[in-house]
Amino acid sequence: MSENLASKLREGTKHSHTMAENTAFMKCFLKGIVEPEPFRKLIANLYFVYSTLEEELQQRCNHPVVGQIYFPELNRKANLEKDLTYYYGRNWREQIVPSEAGKAYVTRIQEVAKIEPALLVAHAYVRYMGDLSGGQSLKKIARSSMDLLPDGGTAFYEFEQIPTPEARKAFKAKYRQALNSLAVDDILATKIIAEANYVFELNRNLIQELEADVKAAIGDRVFDLITRQDKPGSTERPPGNTSVELIAAE
Ligand code: HEM
Repeated sequence: MSENLASKLREGTKHSHTMAENTAFMKCFLKGIVEPEPFRKLIANLYFVYSTLEEELQQRCNHPVVGQIYFPELNRKANLEKDLTYYYGRNWREQIVPSEAGKAYVTRIQEVAKIEPALLVAHAYVRYMGDLSGGQSLKKIARSSMDLLPDGGTAFYEFEQIPTPEARKAFKAKYRQALNSLAVDDILATKIIAEANYVFELNRNLIQELEADVKAAIGDRVFDLITRQDKPGSTERPPGNTSVELIAAE
């Protein structure tokens, strides 16, 4: 067993996390610039990603490794469907297609599920731990920025069964424990960390595709002002020790 897979994952992906936070799309997001068109495209791509991920995880719920980190209360597909109805209307299914980066992400999940299912741990970790962490601040920013109707448009960030900051903190501790008790040797742990870094890259590609839309909406000058400086990433700090900005948002 590889002890402390949870810390190894956090440590081993912190540079990727910093890069994700420093993408132009995320920098604008954190400054309160969330444009409806790129945002709904992101939700559409995430729908394809999570549908695939959750189907592959569910099919392997008896797998000795994958089964240990399958928590149906994390499933996002149904909530993404709610958001798609909000942004595209009832016939959302006919209106959305995955982008190039979205297709590549989906293909990778399917490939890993077939060839080495234990690597699905990396896919679940990057998305769900992220959604339970920074995702909660992003929800508040999206709501105030887009002036959404009450209770509409941010179901993706809402975990009905893990509804409060305390519950999310406890759940993340449980998830880290589950990671630490996986029957994974050091070689497999190294592969999972490498895959997690690749998952960050797939996510970066997904949001980089949306930059042109953001730029078109806010103009070159403001876009350049907002995106020219990098900041230290949230996971460069010890777990739970978030920046003042993010604590205020939670
Ligand atoms: C601007 C965007 C983002 C912000 C503000 C943000 C913020 C945070 C914060 C504050 C934490 C630490 C939570 C804690 O210590 O308990 C965290 C953890 C995490 N985030 Fe992000 N994040 C962002 C983007 C992303 C993206 C794009 C991904 C991946 C798709 C991601 C994946 C993760 C993961 C996997 C963790 C858990 C690290 C660990 O403790 O093992 N984040 N994020």
